[in-house]
Amino acid sequence: MVIGVDVLPDRVDVESPTFRDNRQGLLAQIEEIRGELAKTNAGGGEKYVARHRKRGKLLVRERIEMLLDPDSAFLELSPFAAWGTQYPVGASVVTGLGVVEGVECVLIGHDPTVRGGASNPYTFKKVFRAMSIARENELPIVNLVESGGADLPTQSEIFIPGGQLFHDLTTHSAAGMPTVALVFGNSTAGGAYVPGMCDYVVMVRERAKVFLGGPPLVKMATGEVSDDESLGGGEMHARVSGLADYLAEDEQDAIRIGRRVMARLNWRKKGPGPSLRADPPRRDPGQLIGVASADPKVPFDPRDVIARVVDGSRFDEFKPLYGQSLVTGWASIHGYPVGVLANAQGILFSEEAEKAAQFIQLANQIDTPLVFLQNTTGYMVGAAYEQGGIIKDGAKMINAVSNSAVPHLTITMGASYGAGNYGMCGRSYAPRFLFSWPNARSAVMGPAQLAGVMSIVARESAANRGLDFDEEADTRLRAAVEEQIEREQVALANSGRLYDDGIIDPRDTRTVLGICLSAVHSTEVRGRRGYGVFRM
Ligand code: COA
Repeated sequence: MVIGVDVLPDRVDVESPTFRDNRQGLLAQIEEIRGELAKTNAGGGEKYVARHRKRGKLLVRERIEMLLDPDSAFLELSPFAAWGTQYPVGASVVTGLGVVEGVECVLIGHDPTVRGGASNPYTFKKVFRAMSIARENELPIVNLVESGGADLPTQSEIFIPGGQLFHDLTTHSAAGMPTVALVFGNSTAGGAYVPGMCDYVVMVRERAKVFLGGPPLVKMATGEVSDDESLGGGEMHARVSGLADYLAEDEQDAIRIGRRVMARLNWRKKGPGPSLRADPPRRDPGQLIGVASADPKVPFDPRDVIARVVDGSRFDEFKPLYGQSLVTGWASIHGYPVGVLANAQGILFSEEAEKAAQFIQLANQIDTPLVFLQNTTGYMVGAAYEQGGIIKDGAKMINAVSNSAVPHLTITMGASYGAGNYGMCGRSYAPRFLFSWPNARSAVMGPAQLAGVMSIVARESAANRGLDFDEEADTRLRAAVEEQIEREQVALANSGRLYDDGIIDPRDTRTVLGICLSAVHSTEVRGRRGYGVFRM
């Protein structure tokens, strides 16, 4: 194998059985993901969509599309939120990164066709994730509001944490990032504080209803008889209360005004623009679904992935002869310089951990964002490795990744197990963005290993207590545990819990990373100059 070369070679044999099997497997997985995406896109289903349209209203995705610059990209975030839970997939809200009048921003739009757009626990998780992306990357936020407020049956889970929404909106503004609310319909009770806390508020005439308490509640509380318009109509708020800064004639007009607001923000990104040649990869990104293993137990060479993601397939590999189970090197994506760390054979040994720690420090020294391509089964175990200091070396890598201050972007392109998930910048290491491929699997360890460990522990425990070990029960339990972990480790299950920002088609990796890199350059990109003490 030729390594350390400038332009990565095309080593993929598209006629090989491995390529064909992977491609077939990945296509099936992508189809499954698309099916789930269709559910999110369908909102509350035909009945509620038809009713919404009959009222002359636009669907949330139509609102977003009209707001965005024509033909610009929208990178949807957390579309599978709540997958596998009792709540509807997508969690009754659409969030994402888009461009409005040339301003990159985070959009948060309620879907009023899903339980009145009411917010359940997953809605809050999803909204808070979108807002933290806006905060970390210093992006304005545009809210497209039409919501029944808190999902009342789950109030105990959302009432206290939900208050953070209004807190974060105002601290976002205080940090110099504008917040906008376009109110298309209901924004009642706690929801009224979304326009209340935003810098700019647009309300649609005869549609916006923004009040702390609607007519029935007011009657209950004070006996006063009132109506929607006098309590919270757009016209009242524009002329009387002053909560609305602009009164829109209809939804299209609200979107037009919203775009004018964005155009007048005098918005400037703080980071540098792309500085290198942004030519497409020389190797075909369409082949990524044959390169990636459909079976996460089978490793693959990440250079074949890098070749299909980075500009011109150019990659200057760093330390190619050392710690070969981790590939590190320099490249650019859409003209943005990046350092890449990618797992090769799955396992991280001491050499790989040290190499990673050094490489992360180098990227910080030169203020260069890092891309982590995860496909790891974790750090190596066993007496020789423990005695060789695998904990100390893994700790160096975790120190480096934790204290690194350059933006991190993570793609789970296969396995992500154990502390390997942490060292390779998994969710708890706060990458700016984290996307998974459909073949991704993530858990503390693989299903068979986990079930096996539990079985050995139970066997030893029985022996220590002088009890007979029930082999049959153990076999049943092992199977049940394996089945449970298998269910929990799949990409959709992890995405449902918001352990990533979405599942992407591998062929879109370059585009997704390009959008993310543009977003992270809204902030100053500056590496850490000092580090925590490295354990030697
Ligand atoms: N919590 C839980 N479910 C809610 C909800 C909420 N806050 N708001 C609406 N829903 C449910 C409804 O029960 C209904 O369910 P169903 O179709 O299974 O019967 C579905 O969402 C659609 O609601 P519906 O009232 O038919 O829709 P609408 O478009 O005509 O009206 C609202 C939407 C938001 C104006 C109206 O539902 C409402 O006033 N909700 C309560 C608002 C409120 O007081 N919230 C306080 C939160 S702090």
